[in-house]
Amino acid sequence: MSDKTVDTPEFLGETLLEVRGLVQYFDRPLSWLERCLGRAGSRVHAVNGVDFRIFRGEVFSLVGESGCGKSTTARTVVRLLEPKSGQVFFEGRDIAQLDSQEMMPYRRKIQMVFQNPYASLDPRQKIGDIIMEPILFHKLATSRDEAREQMLRLLDRIGLQRDQADRYPHQFSGGQRQRIGIARALATNPKLIVADEPVSALDVSVQAQILNLMMDLRESGRLSYLFIAHDLSVVRHVTDRLAIMYLGFIVEEGTGEEVFERPLHPYTATLLEAAPAIDKKFLHPVLPGDAPSPLSLPPGCAFASRCPRREPQCERERPPLRRVEESGAVRKVACHFPG
Ligand SMILES: Nc1ncnc2c1ncn2[C@@H]1O[C@H](COP(=O)(O)OP(=O)(O)OP(=O)(O)O)[C@@H](O)[C@H]1O
Ligand code: SF4
Ligand SMILES: [Mg+2]
Repeated sequence: MSDKTVDTPEFLGETLLEVRGLVQYFDRPLSWLERCLGRAGSRVHAVNGVDFRIFRGEVFSLVGESGCGKSTTARTVVRLLEPKSGQVFFEGRDIAQLDSQEMMPYRRKIQMVFQNPYASLDPRQKIGDIIMEPILFHKLATSRDEAREQMLRLLDRIGLQRDQADRYPHQFSGGQRQRIGIARALATNPKLIVADEPVSALDVSVQAQILNLMMDLRESGRLSYLFIAHDLSVVRHVTDRLAIMYLGFIVEEGTGEEVFERPLHPYTATLLEAAPAIDKKFLHPVLPGDAPSPLSLPPGCAFASRCPRREPQCERERPPLRRVEESGAVRKVACHFPG
């Protein structure tokens, strides 16, 4: 895979990650009773042929309602889930089918930051040990002392005191714990951080501090992010480009400025209109109507059941994600009647 391709705007530079045709689904096991009744099994179609690329040094976001497949996409890209089909190129190599040994260097280069800083840190380990663990596991230090020195430097970078290394996670606030989660991710000097809702469990007052920290680290370390969030104001604050997901499909892609200022897909437009009415309880935008079930995908456009622009063609033909040239930049949209 070449680093620069025809659909790459010059300013975006080198491709770090490219996902092509990624598919993920979950087969629900039948209960004993269902088997006795001769019922057919069911399949949740979580990710349905997703394509996107992330350039070196950029923040690329996946946005969409709860259940649209953001986390499943991320977990499949990092091989926490095995892809059912599709390719995941990282620095030009398809890592989708690598065995665990071959995958090891990529586990170092791609790290995750999780949503819940309360659940993602082992409560029995001191935070210094939590941060040192990946350094030792990936043999990135020649001795325990050297690993400790690296860990202390990471504490400096994330704004914690060195003498806090011997404390346990419960002695820290939510924001501090997320800093620790970020330090653990940085410990292997990754190229890509996959951050799945990294601030949505935090108080609003702390969210900006964590986002600013992540952006500062990106500047200093040439880091790229795959950033997942349902909160559009958070995404707007950090993202270079974004993809909007709906029912396991990407329906629109473009720079933050383009998509927020002039959405082309009716779902994106609805999502942006609904943004001020974010449901605080479920922390997701509330849209009128229900999305179709991922157990049974519609033959045509996935958004047709809720779309104000629907035409008969929409229910028959699924619109592919196609390029739309706009003043030199490349946007993509999956809609028969965009704009
Ligand atoms: N392990 C699993 N087994 C069965 N179904 C699953 C599993 N994980 C996810 N799903 C289903 O896959 C679909 C996509 O889920 P996913 O968690 O990726 O959505 P999401 O966009 O991350 O949502 P949220 O914003 O709520 O985190 C949903 O229908 C979900 O119920
Ligand atoms: S293809 Fe049709 S139903 Fe789907 S988003 Fe576009 S106009 Fe709406
Ligand atoms: Mg999720």
